[in-house]
Amino acid sequence: MAVQETFDIVLFGATGDLATRKLLPALYRRHAAGQFDAQSRVLGVSNIECSREEFIARIEEPVRNRVGADFDVAAWQSFVAQLDYLKVDARVDEDFAQLKQRLQDRDDCVRVYFLSTSPLLFVDICTRLQVFELVTPKSRVVLEKPLGHDLVSAQLINQQVGGAFTEDQIYRIDHYLGKEPVQNLMALRFGNALFEPLWQRGRIQHVQITVAEQVGVEQRAAFYDKTGALRDMVQNHLLQLLCIIAMEPPSTSKPDDVRDEKLKVLRALRPLTGREAIENSVRAQYKAGAIGGKPVAGYLEESGVAADSTTETFVALKAQIDSWRWAGVPFYLRTGKRMQDRLAEIVVTFEEVPHAIFDRPISDRANNRLVIRLQPDENITLTLLAKNPGEGIKLMPVNLGLDLNDSHKPRHMDAYERLLMDVVKGNLTLFMRRDELDAAWRWIDPIRASWAQYEEPLKTYTAGSWGPSASSALISRQGLAWSDEL
Ligand code: BG6
Repeated sequence: MAVQETFDIVLFGATGDLATRKLLPALYRRHAAGQFDAQSRVLGVSNIECSREEFIARIEEPVRNRVGADFDVAAWQSFVAQLDYLKVDARVDEDFAQLKQRLQDRDDCVRVYFLSTSPLLFVDICTRLQVFELVTPKSRVVLEKPLGHDLVSAQLINQQVGGAFTEDQIYRIDHYLGKEPVQNLMALRFGNALFEPLWQRGRIQHVQITVAEQVGVEQRAAFYDKTGALRDMVQNHLLQLLCIIAMEPPSTSKPDDVRDEKLKVLRALRPLTGREAIENSVRAQYKAGAIGGKPVAGYLEESGVAADSTTETFVALKAQIDSWRWAGVPFYLRTGKRMQDRLAEIVVTFEEVPHAIFDRPISDRANNRLVIRLQPDENITLTLLAKNPGEGIKLMPVNLGLDLNDSHKPRHMDAYERLLMDVVKGNLTLFMRRDELDAAWRWIDPIRASWAQYEEPLKTYTAGSWGPSASSALISRQGLAWSDEL
């Protein structure tokens, strides 16, 4: 693993949930892997008054928990030797003067400002970074989602951040793009000649993208209740996965060539407006149930959730892409909290053979399927039909597997490790460009508007299930079923 040129990562929101659970563990691992040179630094900042030692004491346990058995005390000591802390309140000028002092003489290094804060602070932070001349030519800013709550608010944030940083200095993160199987999907699609002729209408029957979580709203009820599953998950993660599946082969792997192709997909999504949106979507909220044998509360009983909240914790959608390649091929998307299993996968189902000369397979899974599993395990499986051993030819499904968790292979980087190092290297390929974000909101906003206009009643589902029956009904209208129902 190459050592990177000297960098400073200034981590805003360093004491927050994302920083302690994902970002600092990722940085610790990259440090342990030898990717920090001796001069590189991580500067944690937040509005909490504490010393460097107190900050380190505060983050050690969450990092330890996250890293698990790989945590090494000597490696930790060596990491924290390059870690510092400064109290910076996003709205206090004096604090930015202090920050400037802390970063002085380092203007030639790569500098990453990672904003792991409420998006309400993005503009305050970026404006002050600019006013205090903290944006050097080698500076980059990383923006965590959510970037706005609709097209207008997203455009406002982008415009204001764009006043301080140029577009190629802005890294809008979607951590799903950093997951290993998603990278592998690109490798499979564009590194092999095998799939391309099959990757189209007439060959692919339909595509399903599922991101199911067992967790509820955790400590984020205040945020989630204002957001809902459509904006929290579909607008970003699920649409980005859809783009990787549906995009045309880019002419190079350079950031803008890849992002141009993803943008075309987003722009080709058939708008879901008015009754179309109602007929092609399901929104639901979980009620009390059980997960793994343990009772769990319903959404309305969660602390921090309004007692009469109509926020959706589950959404299923049928999307269509209006292009030559995809005309008539439905893309089914679904995501929910408090579902039966933690499961994130993309299932590409191919058409059946045009004429069957053998007896039906001894299973319902008669179609070839390419399953890209992101969670809980990471693997890619291609289901083929082969002969069942014995007399005569009877078909049965068999799996060709690419197991990315193979214990013989070195551990691969998690999404944040990869994405953080991409920022340091200046590689924008896996980050969303401004026009992509706009296009995603343009597709999402009318769906919400239709839900409001038709006052479509919210469905419910029992925590620990696979969602409301309306979700099965949505897909079964076309004679299909979700992969867990097969
Ligand atoms: C975040 C959402 O973007 O992704 C969360 O805000 C969700 O609500 C999380 O839990 C899921 O990420 P992962 O990597 O755990 O699947």
